[in-house]
Amino acid sequence: MRYVVIGNPVAHSRSPQIHSAFAAQFGLADFQYERLLLPVDGFTEGLCRFVADGGGGCNVTLPFKEEAWRCCDRLSERARAAQAVNTIRVEPNGKLYGDNTDGAGLVADLLRHVSLAGKRILLLGAGGAARGVILPLAAEKPAEIVIANRTAAKAQELAQAFSGQAGVPLSGMDFDAVSGAFDVVVNATSASIGGNALPLPAGVFAPGALAYDMYYSADETAFLQQARESGAAIRLDGLGMLVGQAAEAFFLWTGFRPEVAPVLAELRTSLQ
Ligand code: ATR
Repeated sequence: MRYVVIGNPVAHSRSPQIHSAFAAQFGLADFQYERLLLPVDGFTEGLCRFVADGGGGCNVTLPFKEEAWRCCDRLSERARAAQAVNTIRVEPNGKLYGDNTDGAGLVADLLRHVSLAGKRILLLGAGGAARGVILPLAAEKPAEIVIANRTAAKAQELAQAFSGQAGVPLSGMDFDAVSGAFDVVVNATSASIGGNALPLPAGVFAPGALAYDMYYSADETAFLQQARESGAAIRLDGLGMLVGQAAEAFFLWTGFRPEVAPVLAELRTSLQ
């Protein structure tokens, strides 16, 4: 069966390496996974062609996650909440089932290091990446989730949109308004891509805090450097989230739950 990761650009994607390693864990010789570059205005057409050619499913990356959400026939609850789809399974009748495994990937990676129950979580950013992880984080029953964003209105809107479903206190504000110390601080802004630190008030990292940057790179990201200098004890980049979301997608397609740790270790080595 043929699977692809669709994006633009997509040449940098690590997903083929990850999924090949997963398939090898189960000896799935007929599992093929490739990159598929589509024109920015050609996602739906390219996806239809892939399905017509017998494709089994795909991952979707920037800038197509929202368009993928619009064109699926059926959505998981978490994809509906995220308003974005990163995994599509082609059903036997050719219909498209859309899921979003990003939040599950993040939470699985966090839980490998700390428990989230009763913790104060600070979520930085209020774009698509933040939206997709709010409910999966809330499901772990933290004491509260504070969303902070450069544009405060977007953080407030997001908090309001999810406050009915989250089951934990949610609030949105700008960076200046954040007060108190947090056990877990997750960077879902794209600031690290540009190498920018964030204007966080002093003292946001509680003693022993975990800092998580959804972005990853071979070098320490700007946010993780800031977290280290501010005393965050545990600092993780988004490579574990990447492998975690892939593991969820692989399970959706094949019914097999792969081991994440060895694949993450291999990927980390190949990043250096
Ligand atoms: P994504 O889908 O990756 O979340 P996005 O929807 O464009 O991308 O959102 C990017 C997020 O990063 C936003 O929260 C943005 O803040 P604004 O809402 O104020 O634009 C945040 N962001 C990007 N660059 C930033 C920077 N240099 N400093 C602070 N926040 C930044």
